[in-house]
Amino acid sequence: MANNRENFGSRFTAVMAMAGSAIGLGNIWRFPYMVGQNGGAAFIIIYLLAALFLSLPIFMAESIIGKASHKSTFGAMETLAPGTKWKWLGLITVASPLIIMSYYSVVGGWSIEFLFKSLAFKFNSPDVTSYFGNFISSTWGPLICHTLFLASCAIIVLCGVTKGIEKFSKITTPLLFVLIVVIMAYSCTLPGAKAGITYLLKPDFSKIDAQAVSMAVGQSFFSLSLGVGTILTYASYIKKEENLLATGLGTSAFDLLFAIIAGFAIMPAVFAAGIEPGAGPGLIFETLPYIFGKMGVHTPVLSGLIAILFFVTILFAALTSAISMYETGVAYLIEQKNFSRRNAVLVIFAGCWAVGILCSLSFGPLAGVKVLGENIFGLLDKFASNILMPLGGILFTVFVGWKMPKPQVRSEISTVIYYLIKYVAPLGILAIMITQFIG
Ligand code: TRP
Repeated sequence: MANNRENFGSRFTAVMAMAGSAIGLGNIWRFPYMVGQNGGAAFIIIYLLAALFLSLPIFMAESIIGKASHKSTFGAMETLAPGTKWKWLGLITVASPLIIMSYYSVVGGWSIEFLFKSLAFKFNSPDVTSYFGNFISSTWGPLICHTLFLASCAIIVLCGVTKGIEKFSKITTPLLFVLIVVIMAYSCTLPGAKAGITYLLKPDFSKIDAQAVSMAVGQSFFSLSLGVGTILTYASYIKKEENLLATGLGTSAFDLLFAIIAGFAIMPAVFAAGIEPGAGPGLIFETLPYIFGKMGVHTPVLSGLIAILFFVTILFAALTSAISMYETGVAYLIEQKNFSRRNAVLVIFAGCWAVGILCSLSFGPLAGVKVLGENIFGLLDKFASNILMPLGGILFTVFVGWKMPKPQVRSEISTVIYYLIKYVAPLGILAIMITQFIG
C-alpha cells in the first residue's frame, strides 16, 4: 500500500504544506493577544526558547516517525512497533486533530462572516465592537459559516494530497506572507503606531510567571500543529531522500516569522487607536474591525480594502491549517479501514460538523452548559491544548528517543537534536504539565 501513496513533489511544496498547517489562527488570532497580555517582547523571548528546545524536537520526532513508516498516525505505530501498546498513541492521535478541527472550524466560520462584512464596507458603524458578541451568540449565522468552512476544507481534501492539499498550500502559503506584510506596512505607518512597535520590542519581564511560560509553550505547540499527528501525517508524504532537518527548520522559521509579522501588523494598529493591548481573544474580531472603521474616517477606501485583505488572510490561513487536521483523519480511514477518499472525507465531515455545532452553539443557546467552568468550545480547546497536545508531544519524543532503533533516528538528525528529543523535550514538557496542574 505504501507504494501507491501520494507524495509531496518537492522540498518547497512539502515546506509550504507544513508551514500552511502551522500558520493559522494560532499565529494571527492567538499569538498577538497572548503577546499583548504577557509582557510583549518578554513573552516573545520565552516563546522562542520554547520553540527551540521543546517544539522543534517534537516536530522532528513526528517527522521521523512519518517518514520512516510512510503511514499516518495509527499505521505508523503499527508499522514501527507492531502489537505494542503504542497503538494507543496512534488511536489518540487520530481523534485529537478531529477534536481540534471541530472548534477550529467554528472560528474559521467567524472569519467567513467577517470577510463578508468587510466586503460590504461595514466596519465604520459605531456598533462594530458589539457586532462580534452578537454574532457569535446567535444561532444560525455561525452555524451556516461553520458549515461553509468545513465544506471548503472537505473539497480541498477530497482532491487528494497532490492535487488538493499540496496545490492549495503552495499558492496560499506564499500569498499569506505577501498579504500580512502589506497589512503590517499599513499598520506601522498609522499615526501613533510607534508605541505598538516599542511594545513589541521592549520586554516587560514582570509579566512573566509560570502561567505565562506555560502559555508560551502551549502556544508554540499549537502554532506548529504539534502533538496530535498532523505533522506526522504530512511527513509521511515526504519523499524518502528528503532531508528532514531542512523541512523542520524551514517550517518552524516560517511559522515564527509569520507570527512576529502578524504581531507587527496588529499591535501598532491597536496602539494607534488607543486601545488596551491585552484585549484577549476578541482582539482580531472586535478590536480590529473597530480600528479599521476608525481609520476609515480619513481614508475610507484604503482602510476598507485593508479590512478585506485582513480577513482574506485569516480565512486562508485557517483553511490551510484545517485541511491538515482533516487529512489526519482521512488518511487513517483510507489506510486502515479501506475507505475510498470520498467516503473518508464524508465521514470526517459528518463527525466534525456535529461536534462543531455544539461548539458553535456554546456561545449562544448552549452557553449555560458548563463543564469544569468552561463552555463546550472552551472545554475542547483546553482539553486539546493542555492535555492532548503536550501528552502527544511527550509520547512522540519518547517513542523516537527510546523505542525506535538508534541508527534509524540518528541518520536523520544531528546529535544535539537527538538529545533534545531524548531528554530535554519530554522532561521539559512533563515539568510544565505538572506545574500547570499544581498551579
Ligand atoms: N497550527 C495551526 C494554527 O496555528 C493550527 C493547527 C493545525 C493545529 N493543525 C493542528 C493545532 C494540529 C494543533 C494541532 O492555527
